Amino acid sequence: MATALFENGGAIVNLRIVTARASTTLGASVAATLACDLTACDIRPFPDGELRPVVGDVGGEDVFVIESTGPPVHEHLVELMLLLDACRRGGAERVTAVVPYLGYARQDRRDRDGEALGARVIVDALVGAGAQRLIVVDPHTTSVEAMCSVPVEMLTAVPVLAGALAATTPDDAVVVAPDLGAVKLAERYAAVLGRPVVIVRKHRLSGDTVRAEELVGDVDGRTGVIVDDMISTGGTIEAAARILRAHGAEAGMVATSHGLLVGGATQRLTAAGIARVLVTDTVTSGEGAGSVVEVHSIAHVVAEAIGRLHSR
Ligand code: R5P
Repeated sequence: MATALFENGGAIVNLRIVTARASTTLGASVAATLACDLTACDIRPFPDGELRPVVGDVGGEDVFVIESTGPPVHEHLVELMLLLDACRRGGAERVTAVVPYLGYARQDRRDRDGEALGARVIVDALVGAGAQRLIVVDPHTTSVEAMCSVPVEMLTAVPVLAGALAATTPDDAVVVAPDLGAVKLAERYAAVLGRPVVIVRKHRLSGDTVRAEELVGDVDGRTGVIVDDMISTGGTIEAAARILRAHGAEAGMVATSHGLLVGGATQRLTAAGIARVLVTDTVTSGEGAGSVVEVHSIAHVVAEAIGRLHSR
């Protein structure tokens, strides 16, 4: 795809892609897909840990800043906000935050008094820093759009991951939502794979421990393909795999958009009998390499959206 151009009041506005440390590889693939050079971006940390990004000339241009906010979450969040501000102050015509994995989206409601509404705080911060539009991939909650005062483009990795699963998914397979929040996502996989959905009702005991309370659906003698928006510690998938087996099913395959894989998640999944974990390149985890983890790129999905939005 060639670099698209659009005119604004007669002036040609070029596409510019800025990418930072959390999304270097994905950003380079997106830029290559769009045949667009990456705009230079130099992140200079101070000795005390403060970040000082410097971006190249983006004056009058349509700028897409690509950075996921995976671990280390706060460093990447601040880096992204500083870059958005740098582009705005550099006179960009329009600034879009492309956040393939949007951290804090799980905090989309307050379960008890005293909690913050983390998702809202983060989208407000991105908009405050200069984002005039957001692009996200399979956010934990679609209510991000309702919380956000600027347009949100929601992309999905489901066709990529379901396509990669399709050839090896047995006819008797069921798509497993490992908690109630994953039901809609499971339905989207099920539509592509042509398999029914079963649901696990889970109870979270702590940040890394969950209990599968109940399995809704018939799985005896079948193969469960567990799908979720993200894997962090692997506790949710582990619990789902165990309850599936307790009900007579196989549970060897998992697909997730965001493989954060922290705290020994990969070993945990392997120990739980998971043989294949399909993730995308929205985040990079050091834990995945050389293991059961398969990375499928969504660069073309992000590139298509950028190309489309740029030409609007
Ligand atoms: C929560 O509802 C999410 O969709 C994931 O199920 C959860 O964040 C995964 O975390 P972990 O891998 O630590 O269980």
